[in-house]
Amino acid sequence: MDFATVNQELFRFLDRSPNAFFAVRNMCEKLDRAGMVRLFEGRPWTLEAGKGYYVTRNDSALIAFRIPRADYTGFQIMASHCDSPVFKIKANAEITVDDRYVKLNVEKYGGMLCAPWLDRPLSVAGRIMVRTSEGIETKLVNVDRSLLIIPNLAIHMNREVNDGYSYNAQVDMLPLFCEKGEEEDVFLQMIAAEAGVNAEDILDTDLFLYNRMPAERLGLRGEFIASGRLDDLQCAFASLQGFLAARPGDSVAVHCVFDNEEVGSGSKQGAAGTFLSDTLRRINRVMGRTEEDYLMSIASSFLVSADNAHAVHPNLTDKADPTNRPYLNQGIVIKYSANQKYTTDAVSGAIMRAICRQADVPCQTFTNRSDLLGGSTLGNISQSQVSLNTVDIGLPQLAMHSPYETAGAKDTAYLAEAARVLFSSSVEGTGDGNYRLKF
Ligand code: CO
Repeated sequence: MDFATVNQELFRFLDRSPNAFFAVRNMCEKLDRAGMVRLFEGRPWTLEAGKGYYVTRNDSALIAFRIPRADYTGFQIMASHCDSPVFKIKANAEITVDDRYVKLNVEKYGGMLCAPWLDRPLSVAGRIMVRTSEGIETKLVNVDRSLLIIPNLAIHMNREVNDGYSYNAQVDMLPLFCEKGEEEDVFLQMIAAEAGVNAEDILDTDLFLYNRMPAERLGLRGEFIASGRLDDLQCAFASLQGFLAARPGDSVAVHCVFDNEEVGSGSKQGAAGTFLSDTLRRINRVMGRTEEDYLMSIASSFLVSADNAHAVHPNLTDKADPTNRPYLNQGIVIKYSANQKYTTDAVSGAIMRAICRQADVPCQTFTNRSDLLGGSTLGNISQSQVSLNTVDIGLPQLAMHSPYETAGAKDTAYLAEAARVLFSSSVEGTGDGNYRLKF
């Protein structure tokens, strides 16, 4: 496996994807280059066996699929997410301090580690809605230079800070933007200039902070990688690499990336929305298949919910389960939870292990300590829209939800290879609990 090349491409994707809108745009560019046909939900679809297509929703969620043949067996799906915990810039963002400083009013999006957002160069990216002669138009804006900083308070003014500090998002986390000048509305003026539009034509915005530190390799032998947004762009990237390399045989390959996982998935572009079920049903209908065909195909489908997992922390080893201890570079993590916060069960775990074996990549297991609650992800949420055999997996990482996370330099390539095998395979139900796996 060519780990160096995979990491170079991953880093390029991470650095160019400060948030979900840019991640989706960059994935669309790759799909265009691979000759996939873009579809829109609001226009009619014509689909042909042997071809690949993709569709976006809200410019922040994406589904790409390849239909090998009209009488396909089922859907082989990998779902990940492209949003990350971050600070969102509020409307009327400017706050003037002592008539000297201008800082920006922000709020939390998702559950982030606050401390590592302090004392580092930040900038702003997102989308703006611009008035046109016909209506409104989306423009993406990335202020691609170091622009903002959230300064810590000096230790001299809080000697107890290292004993634990409670961050108040409305007080502690507001980024310093500029010195107060003569002009009003300088933030929106700057965004308008970056986008090449007039400020008065900007009707609304979804703008977010991001960490300017680029992705890097580190460790004596370059064993580790560090970047913002590894959760979950590392999985989204590996899924797309596998999708592009796959040769679907009997089943439709579906690369699916949702938005809003970090805030519970409950949006039209999130896993609790209808995006996946609408798309699968539409493929079924446009390919001239019946409702009975659809239900049979779902029974012979497989969903891999791919969202990063916690590796054993080198300083806090007791936080991990005593017997299920994932490490960086030791391969794909299959996640289990008896209360089904993770969807994995014996059936889906067995299918995933067979896929890893076929791909010749290592896998390991994660469970929470029995006295820790742990996190949740999109796998069980998407079951309420499309119910099918699902496994929860992820790549092992440290510092999840920091704006600069750490992972293994080998694991992305492992997941890309497993995704390639998944997308090329089929899982045919031959009676409840029994499956014919075709690779
Ligand atoms: Co995640």
